[in-house]
Amino acid sequence: MPPQTFLVTGASDGIGAVYADRLARRGHDLILVARRVDRLAELAERLAAATGVSVETIGADLSDPDDLARIEARLRKDEKITGLVNNAGIANEGPILEADPEYLSGMIDLNVRAVTRLSAAIAPRLAAAGAGTIINLTSVTALMPAGFTAVYPATKAFVLAFSEALQAELGPKGVRVQAVLPGITRTAIWTGEMLASLPATMIMDAGEMVDAALAGLDMGETVTIPALPDMAAYEAYVAARNALRPDLSHAHAAPRYGVTASA
Ligand SMILES: NC(=O)c1ccc[n+]([C@@H]2O[C@H](COP(=O)([O-])OP(=O)(O)OC[C@H]3O[C@@H](n4cnc5c(N)ncnc54)[C@H](OP(=O)(O)O)[C@@H]3O)[C@@H](O)[C@H]2O)c1
Repeated sequence: MPPQTFLVTGASDGIGAVYADRLARRGHDLILVARRVDRLAELAERLAAATGVSVETIGADLSDPDDLARIEARLRKDEKITGLVNNAGIANEGPILEADPEYLSGMIDLNVRAVTRLSAAIAPRLAAAGAGTIINLTSVTALMPAGFTAVYPATKAFVLAFSEALQAELGPKGVRVQAVLPGITRTAIWTGEMLASLPATMIMDAGEMVDAALAGLDMGETVTIPALPDMAAYEAYVAARNALRPDLSHAHAAPRYGVTASA
């Protein structure tokens, strides 16, 4: 991939900061977005000094409509931005019976609305140019709707479905869309206590996760699951899902419901 300019959200920490590092080392200029501008400035200075790429920082709370609109406007207008990494996200809402409704809607605003609007802001320009890259950070919890928490996996299932649909629409126009599904990755999204309670064999370092995700991008994958040993297992899951298609819409209800055609 020739050097381009990537806008990376949630670049002040964790996976986003590693994306910034790896993309800079590949020679790409960067625009880094998050709320903690001091951390962004520190990272920008370090990356620019180490790699010579240009690194701009923008402070924005992407769950805030005005801040989001500012980043959308930049993505719509700035011709030099040809890559977007939708990485910013929050988790850990706890059980639904105890969850704070404000936290839940803030999570949906960031994990779903911001990803949707930023992608929609850049997509027309990339499609018109016939080139560009959108990387969306989802999660393996997108494939496990039960047994974790209720809302976070649902937001990530949205991002997975959205990315697959984007790739179907934009891929033929020359735009690359990749959904990345990390498993448990060692970042500040988890408390130290949470990580300590999990088997070490299930936890990947953020550096290894992002390196695998970028290797998946280089390989042309639309869906990258860094920990999954054999992608054939995921392909079999998608094939089973696709096999339902011819039977998902009929003029009459299935016989098991015992319903007769109404006038
Ligand atoms: N770590 C894992 O185990 C794991 C597994 C699967 C998927 N993921 C996904 O990977 C992505 C990155 O997660 P991470 O583990 O790196 O989390 P992290 O270490 O907590 O970092 C989250 C980043 O998002 C930014 N952010 C949070 N709220 C924001 C807001 N309202 N507006 C703008 N930026 C905001 C944070 O920066 P500021 O606080 O400075 O704004 C920070 O840079 C998320 O989408 C997450 O769901 C993580």
